[in-house]
Amino acid sequence: MATRDFQGKVVLITGASSGIGRAAASAYASQGAHIVLAARRESQLQDAAREVEALGVRALPVRCDVTVEEEVHRLMRETEAAFGGLDILVNNAGLGLYGPVEGFSEAQLRQVFDINFFGLVRVTRAALPLLRKRAPGSQVVNVSSVLGHRGLPLLGGYGASKAAVNLLTESLRAELASEGISVLLVSPGLTETEFRDARLSAEGWKQDAIPLNAMSSATVASAMVRASRRKRRETVLTLPGRVMVLANRWVPALFDRVARRIVNPAKAP
Ligand SMILES: NC(=O)c1ccc[n+]([C@@H]2O[C@H](COP(=O)([O-])OP(=O)(O)OC[C@H]3O[C@@H](n4cnc5c(N)ncnc54)[C@H](OP(=O)(O)O)[C@@H]3O)[C@@H](O)[C@H]2O)c1
Repeated sequence: MATRDFQGKVVLITGASSGIGRAAASAYASQGAHIVLAARRESQLQDAAREVEALGVRALPVRCDVTVEEEVHRLMRETEAAFGGLDILVNNAGLGLYGPVEGFSEAQLRQVFDINFFGLVRVTRAALPLLRKRAPGSQVVNVSSVLGHRGLPLLGGYGASKAAVNLLTESLRAELASEGISVLLVSPGLTETEFRDARLSAEGWKQDAIPLNAMSSATVASAMVRASRRKRRETVLTLPGRVMVLANRWVPALFDRVARRIVNPAKAP
């Protein structure tokens, strides 16, 4: 039998009950990793855990809200009890926010930051003692978004939470390098998941269909596993996403004009 790249490794994924996180659980499992699946919806977590076990590895589903410190510590205690340490932490749990800066409430913005940014910080800090047990060679994989690299109209609150993740990732990467813990950033573009149904919207705002092809969560997951294997520090997904990040770097004023047209503002009827 061919060697699997993550044979016997332990991977903890937040937001593993749906979308990219669930697909990542299967993708790492198919490379031989045991998976700790964390999220709030227990029945979806159990289903995802069964999918993982069917690939011949162990799955540990743990109900965990990343905004609750005690639940995050319990997640790490259960991981340590089951596996003794952690090789890869995938910080994937996330929530979107749609609407103009003037329109979303401060409470909505705080909720989004509490999951996307503070949740990631909380989980990472709690996981570090377990990642150190498997260093050198352990990893933190932070899921950002192309929107964390360039602000677009009506997506500024969400994008800001991901831009904060990007910057924190750079700092953490430098802080942990000497211990042999890699810190990777994966920035998907538009992906077909429950994300748009779950996200918050400013009152009276809804988004029209986006005129771009969405990737599948399986495509994002295989790019993530590839990045993990190669310890690739930064992965920006989809061609339009890469073009956007590059265009913004080289011709930002031109891209400002393009950006106005990318998202077609639409108020709810
Ligand atoms: N879809 C896209 O177009 C896209 C593009 C770029 C980046 N992303 C990023 O990709 C990541 C995954 O999103 P997705 O597209 O797969 O959307 P999704 O299907 O809605 O998945 C989001 C996941 O996050 C979990 N989650 C939300 N709040 C949580 C909390 N407080 N504690 C623990 N888990 C929580 C959800 O599980 P529970 O509800 O069960 O807790 C769910 O498993 C997010 O970070 C998102 O920002 C998505």
